[in-house]
Amino acid sequence: MRFGIITGGGDCPGLNAVIRAVVRSALLHGDEIVGFRDGWGGVLDGDCLDLPIEKVAGILPRGGTILGTSRRSALEHRDIVAQRFAEQRLDGLIAVGGNGTLFAANALSDQFPIVGVPKTIDNDISGTDRTFGFDTAVHIATAAIDRLHTTAESHYRNLVVEVMGRNAGWIALHAGLAGGADVILVPERPFDIAEVAERVLARRSRGRGFSIVVVAEGATARGGDPLHKGRMDPVGRPLLGGIGHWLERELEERTKAETRVVVLGHMQRGGTATAYDRVLASRMGQRAHLAAHAGEFGCMAALKGPSIELVPLAEATVPNLVPDAELDLAEAFLG
Ligand code: F6P
Repeated sequence: MRFGIITGGGDCPGLNAVIRAVVRSALLHGDEIVGFRDGWGGVLDGDCLDLPIEKVAGILPRGGTILGTSRRSALEHRDIVAQRFAEQRLDGLIAVGGNGTLFAANALSDQFPIVGVPKTIDNDISGTDRTFGFDTAVHIATAAIDRLHTTAESHYRNLVVEVMGRNAGWIALHAGLAGGADVILVPERPFDIAEVAERVLARRSRGRGFSIVVVAEGATARGGDPLHKGRMDPVGRPLLGGIGHWLERELEERTKAETRVVVLGHMQRGGTATAYDRVLASRMGQRAHLAAHAGEFGCMAALKGPSIELVPLAEATVPNLVPDAELDLAEAFLG
C-alpha cells in the first residue's frame, strides 16, 4: 500500500519523530510513504517526494519538520485532493497537525481516507491526553523562568515572561508551576490588573523583593481583547503579541518597582524535542501508520492514559482549554 503524509500548521518539536516512525512502520509492513511538502500546500501544488528509509535516517533529534509546513488548507479544493490521491495512487493520507490542519482533515475525511496525528506545543487539542511538543515547550519556558529568577532577585525587579498560547494557557500554567512563578495569567481566566499588582506588592511586603509573572500571549485583562501586532497570519487570525509589554508598563507604574519583559516566542517551538516528546511522537506515528494499513480512517492517534488509541478525528476540532479546577489548584502555589 502507499500512503501520503503531511505536516501542517505551526511547527513543533517531534514532527520528524512522527515522520520517521511512519516510514519505519511502513517498511516493516511492506508499504510506501510519500511526503507532501508544506502541509496541505504540497497536496494542492503536487509538491511531494518519496520517503524511503534513507530519507529519515538521522532526523529523530532534529527540530522542525523535514517536509516543511504551512497554514494552507485544502478544505475548498476537494477536486485537487482527489487528483493527488489518483496521481500518487494513495491508499490513504496521514495528516500531522494542529487545530487548522486537523479541522480540514476531519472535514475531508467524509470523502478521503485520512488518519490524523495531533501536534502542537499549545496542548490545546481535545481527544488526546497530551500533544507532542508540549513537554518540550514547557521545558524551554521553565529553563528560561529559572534563569530569570536569579536576575530578577539580584535587581529586585518584576519579570514578566510571555509564553505562547492563543486560546489555552497550558504552557503558562505548567511552566509557571514548574518555575515557581508568583502570578500565572491564562486566556481561560481574564485577569484584573489591579489584583495582579496587589499580589506583587503583597509579596514585596513579605520581604520577597522580586516577582515572576508568567503570561500566555492570549491572556486578556478583564473586559479587554487579546493584544495583537496589527497584522494577520496566513489564515487571517490576528498575530498575537503585546500583553507582556503591556504588563511590564502597568506593573512598573502600579508597583513602583523596576519591571522587565521577556517574550519567549518561537524559542519554544524550535530545536530538538525532549525524550518524552520523541517517544510520544514515535508512538503516535507508528499507530497512525498501523491504522492506515488496517484501513481504519477518519480517526486520530491519541494518548489515552498509558496507551495510544484511535479516537474519531472530529474530537480534534474541539479546543482543549485548561479546566477551572486545574487553575484553582494552581492558585495554591502562587504568590
Ligand atoms: O502553533 C500554535 C502557536 O504556537 C500559537 O501559540 C501561536 O499563536 C502561534 O503558534 C504562532 O505561530 P506563527 O508565528 O507561526 O504564526
